[in-house]
Amino acid sequence: MDRLIITGGKRLSGEVQISGAKNAALPLMASTILCKGETVLSNIPGLKDIMTMSEVLANMGAGISVEGGCLRINTDTLMNKEAPYELVKTMRASVLTLGPMVARFGCAKVSLPGGCAIGARPINLHLMGLEKMGAKITLSQGYVVAKAKRLKGATIYCDISTVTGTENLMMAAALAKGRTIIENAAREPEVEDLANALVKMGAKISGAGSTVIEIEGVDELRPIDYTIIPDRIETGTFITIAGITGSNILIKNSRYDHIAAIAEKLRETGIIITEEGDALRVIGPPIGTLQPADVRTMPFPGFPTDMQAQFIALTSMAAGTSIVRETIFENRYMHVAELKRMGAHIEIEDNIATVRGVQRLLGAPVMATDLRASASLVVAALAAEGETIIDRIYHLDRGYEKIEDKISNLGGDIRRVKGGRT
Ligand code: EPU
Repeated sequence: MDRLIITGGKRLSGEVQISGAKNAALPLMASTILCKGETVLSNIPGLKDIMTMSEVLANMGAGISVEGGCLRINTDTLMNKEAPYELVKTMRASVLTLGPMVARFGCAKVSLPGGCAIGARPINLHLMGLEKMGAKITLSQGYVVAKAKRLKGATIYCDISTVTGTENLMMAAALAKGRTIIENAAREPEVEDLANALVKMGAKISGAGSTVIEIEGVDELRPIDYTIIPDRIETGTFITIAGITGSNILIKNSRYDHIAAIAEKLRETGIIITEEGDALRVIGPPIGTLQPADVRTMPFPGFPTDMQAQFIALTSMAAGTSIVRETIFENRYMHVAELKRMGAHIEIEDNIATVRGVQRLLGAPVMATDLRASASLVVAALAAEGETIIDRIYHLDRGYEKIEDKISNLGGDIRRVKGGRT
């Protein structure tokens, strides 16, 4: 298994190019199931999760090729085939094939994702919505089977805002008969991006980006060329990297409207963030002067749970105490034990982390446990004294494209060691 070796304490400078958004690309890839023909997705990030979704689609008979950040998916030969456990267990987002499969073929079989490192993560709302649209859902031997001759429009209220749930239902409703209304829909930019793509494919959707989405089903959709939005969490991660290392960097290919809550919160810590066209100039405060800040994770437009771990790493070096409340997932503090091995002072009680800033972190061998936890270890390691060895970075490879190249281009001391011990 690969490891990252980081020697902290370097001031970074220069430019970094943000990749396309993983969590926008995955539903867009699933949406190709809805029609025949060749879809071309540009600004596709080179990530393990994209490869896994490609395998899921290829397993259903899709033709997939990738060249220079462009992913071509041909669904002419797509068959009604399951998303198997072997793939779903490595990436929960495979469940995004459920809605489009049942809408296009009248039947879908997807392995039920289990819990994962950050929480139980049920899919009851995805299933409830499909049932409301007339699908018959059965669970058998670890698989969800959804059947419906043709889905019917319905009014669906989600009592929790769910990102992939909203996406799954929106895709299913695009080919259903009649009007679907999703109430308390997720407002994340990735949901809006999917809606924009579906509209380009010929779907009739309004309200995406708000809490009520209306979809008037159509009989057929067509393939499109589409450019994926920049990854707002990667942008946020690089802002924390600049913040903790007291660096001045230019983060290119970023949308400020997607990271406004992140930027507002991180400014409280003393980081200067200014817009320069489609880039952000980020200047970290001098080492030792970072300020504490309290935060609560919330669905968009709130502060994202996917930035919580990096925020804790950042404030672990602030001059004071920060209170962090994780409200989305019940078990998303796995990074804390690892950060403590580097000298951070953090206590967890229920869903609240109390982060007492320290003047210095010390490099240590640590272990990545999930994607964002891994990112937080990179953030901390870049500011820590001495060498940090991060093990199990396959988690990081799921969501950050060439992170070691991007950081070393900025002057960071980071290298990947292939096939280290597990
Ligand atoms: N939930 C339910 N029932 C459902 C669906 C969700 O109770 O049927 C709960 C979840 O357990 C959780 C909350 O609702 O407590 C929100 O979960 P959501 O469904 O919104 O999460 P998701 O769609 O599974 C996406 C991202 C995650 C991100 C969350 C929250 C993708 C592929 N994944 O997951 O991204 O953390 O939204 O914003 O879009 C990551 O990139 O590292 C990552 C984990």
